[in-house]
Amino acid sequence: MEDFVKEILVTTEEIEAKVKELGEQITEDYKGKELILVGILKGAVIFMGDLARNIHIPVEMDFMAVSSYGSSSTSTGVVRLLKDLDCSIEGKHVLIVEDIIDTGLTLSYLIDNLKKRGPKSVKACTLLDKPDRRKTEVPVAYRGFVIPDEFVVGYGIDYAQKYRNLPYVAALKEEIYS
Ligand code: IMP
Ligand code: MG
Repeated sequence: MEDFVKEILVTTEEIEAKVKELGEQITEDYKGKELILVGILKGAVIFMGDLARNIHIPVEMDFMAVSSYGSSSTSTGVVRLLKDLDCSIEGKHVLIVEDIIDTGLTLSYLIDNLKKRGPKSVKACTLLDKPDRRKTEVPVAYRGFVIPDEFVVGYGIDYAQKYRNLPYVAALKEEIYS
């Protein structure tokens, strides 16, 4: 274990098994349908890459980037679109791929935004869910792990743009934040 890690919350093996299971479920649910995976940059990139390789039907992949206005602790639900999709989603089944759902405000914005573009359906898949801080009810069709209200990094998720490359999900030691 790296010396800046306080605790590993989800191991590499647990992630691997879960991503395989989610991929199988998505494969089953979207057979014969035109599916586009919409990954949310940058946190979902690693999850999306592994998930896509466990989905055994042809899929399209595209990405969006968003950021919340203000600091995350005073999140107002106002989300700024930094990068839009390259493709049209009209007539397609959309699966939003997220790293982590916390207040739910980002996902709620994304679902509303994408639903206006004429897709056949819009659903969401998240690796991690922190339900304790939820501010808005948001439908999640596929969920990897429910975790306690703790700030985590790894497997795509960052603190100040670092630690995305850890192959597991972990809490950092307190001194890293100070
Ligand atoms: P929400 O709008 O509050 O659900 O925010 C979700 C976004 O906040 C995620 O996509 C992450 O970018 C960020 N986030 C939430 N919790 C964590 C965490 O524990 N570590 C790192 N980023 C987080
Ligand atoms: Mg994110």
